[in-house]
Amino acid sequence: MSISTLPLFLLAVLLSCSAASPFYWKKPCLSQPSLTCYFTPTAGHNVTGSVQFSPLFMRKARSRNRCFVRITAKLNNLSPGYHGFHIHTYGDIRSSDGKSTGGHFSNPSGIARQHALPGDWPRHWGDFGSLEAAGDGTATYDRVDYIIKLRGIVGRGMIVHALEDKGKEAQPSGGAGSRQARCVIGIANPDYMANMS
Ligand SMILES: *[C@@H]1O[C@H](CO)[C@@H](O)[C@H](O)[C@H]1NC(C)=O
Repeated sequence: MSISTLPLFLLAVLLSCSAASPFYWKKPCLSQPSLTCYFTPTAGHNVTGSVQFSPLFMRKARSRNRCFVRITAKLNNLSPGYHGFHIHTYGDIRSSDGKSTGGHFSNPSGIARQHALPGDWPRHWGDFGSLEAAGDGTATYDRVDYIIKLRGIVGRGMIVHALEDKGKEAQPSGGAGSRQARCVIGIANPDYMANMS
């Protein structure tokens, strides 16, 4: 390298290592493992399916964070219409009614937040709104979440409810009724990621 290209080289190294560089953020974001949650029905229901959580690197105006979470889900055997869909505090699915998963997961710091829909703030980390099931009982979900972190939700539970989540008008949990399926969020096996349910 000649003396004249050295300053340019140093500038390039500096830029790629600085927090302003896309390379600085992208790799640690995309190298995080994806998560999955595989539903089993509560007593008296047949609801099955799974949720996938994947790291998504993107720029978003006025946000220093660039690592977001894409949530995709496919559920089966629901009654047609809307069903509340949330992360709950505990990854404990031993009770047949799903209640051992506790209430909505607020956030890892434990700061109490009110219930709301995903587009509102403040909200619990676990507030995902509702799934809409078609006439054949299947529902899909695909949304990017700007608040949750993959590392903060491993080991928590998830619930699909009987009724629609009515958001912040219905404190403390959206009035979504009984629990029809539950699961524990864990590290996904990449070999199985294509098989959603
Ligand atoms: C669950 O499936 C069983 C067997 O097909 C059926 O008899 C039952 O009515 C179903 N329950 C619900 C709530 O859909």
